[in-house]
Amino acid sequence: MLSLNRRSFLRVAGAASAASFLGPQMHALATLQAEPSRSVAANDHIQIALIGAGGQGQSDTKVAVQVPGVKLVAVADCYSGRLERSKELWGSNVFTTRDYNEILARKDIDAVIIGTPDHWHKQASIDAMKAGKDVYCEKPMIHLYADGPEMIETARSTKRILQIGSQRVSSLLYIKAKELLASGAIGQLNMVTARWDRNSSMGAWNYTVPPDASPETCDWPRFLGAAPKIPFNAEHFFQWRKWKAYGSGVAGDLFVHLFSGTHFITGSHGPTQGMATGALRFWKDGRDVPDVMLGLFDYREGFNLSLRVNFVDGGEESEGLIFTGSEGTMEIGGGAVTVTRVPRQSAPGYTVDTFPEAMQKEILEAYGKQYPPHVGSDSLGGSEKFVAPHGYSDSYDHFKNFFASVRSRQPVVEDAVFGYRAAGAALLSNLSIERGAVVRWDPDAMKLA
Ligand SMILES: NC(=O)c1ccc[n+]([C@@H]2O[C@H](COP(=O)([O-])OP(=O)(O)OC[C@H]3O[C@@H](n4cnc5c(N)ncnc54)[C@H](O)[C@@H]3O)[C@@H](O)[C@H]2O)c1
Repeated sequence: MLSLNRRSFLRVAGAASAASFLGPQMHALATLQAEPSRSVAANDHIQIALIGAGGQGQSDTKVAVQVPGVKLVAVADCYSGRLERSKELWGSNVFTTRDYNEILARKDIDAVIIGTPDHWHKQASIDAMKAGKDVYCEKPMIHLYADGPEMIETARSTKRILQIGSQRVSSLLYIKAKELLASGAIGQLNMVTARWDRNSSMGAWNYTVPPDASPETCDWPRFLGAAPKIPFNAEHFFQWRKWKAYGSGVAGDLFVHLFSGTHFITGSHGPTQGMATGALRFWKDGRDVPDVMLGLFDYREGFNLSLRVNFVDGGEESEGLIFTGSEGTMEIGGGAVTVTRVPRQSAPGYTVDTFPEAMQKEILEAYGKQYPPHVGSDSLGGSEKFVAPHGYSDSYDHFKNFFASVRSRQPVVEDAVFGYRAAGAALLSNLSIERGAVVRWDPDAMKLA
């Protein structure tokens, strides 16, 4: 149990080696000697390719290549501007193509990062695993419920490493939060509330459409894949999150991070049922998904989860999770974990004013004997804050964990089962709104009940 009789600000020490506190560049230097060397490719590098070189794909790859022994050799994307940008970033020798099958056919590629829109996650992951590649697939793992079992089964049958990209699962802060909860720092957990509120056009997914967007520069049929066939639409291509055909709304984009964090910290497999409400309140620009959504979920571990995303919060953007227990709260947000405890008074108090006077006297006398007046102590109260070091990158740690598994063939920190349990839970919200009903889910079997 933590003793919280002071206000203290501590670094998250002890949760990881000093290397984890450094920026990615320094971190890479520090881990160079620590990792076992094992040849996974002819030149002893793990050679990777990126499939889907948009915002997150490029950002992931910039981090991935900082892990020692990792080299990018190829990039696939449907927009020529992003292939050009990839060469600017990683050198003209990087092989680029619109067709990821050309990448999967290459024998010199060990692993791929999949940063496509959600509707391509399953197919690209399965194609890559069947071609013998290990896969780092961005969250949400699935677009449709049917994707989950297929991806899990393919990872199993091909014996490929499949890690899902909810980077917070590798975060020092989340590891600390998990330890704190397990140590009883907030007593018995009874509620988790999490939010992800935004107040900007970019936050609402209105990403820039490049001036040269056209059927020539964008491989529209390939982008569409299994999505409904419609004529070229640059907004659909570059702002795909706004349509269900490619994305999964705020549930798939943001609830899934909050589920991943909750499941990692509590060790839960997921909710048994969920209900949600939501609507398009502000960004009425042709999108077919809500910009305000609230979800409520039951966990058989004895707690309830409430989630909120508001893209029109009219004020400060805010993001974080609060774990509430019988003895205190634990908040993750702003690069820190804060545990706060306000002890209940040992004397219960009384409400007697509405009773006859003689009875009030009688009750007060008995109360005074049972609870003699004393100056209360709050020696167990206070708060303790664990701060992530400046420049700390959980994405770096998530990639470091992935590549360690690629070398060791040991299980990843966030495998397909974990990924499906998080994304499957998140999509309950969309289903609940669609059906106007509570939706039941079996978190062990990972099936809609
Ligand atoms: N982990 C995180 O914090 C995080 C953050 C942002 C995005 N993401 C996830 O990353 C994924 C990508 O999001 P984004 O914002 O980078 O989108 P984006 O639109 O910026 O990039 C997607 C890219 O995929 C390409 N693409 C589409 N179909 C393809 C195909 N068949 N083959 C090759 N390339 C294809 C597109 O041309 C585009 O350049 C999403 O699933 C999203 O949920 C995760």
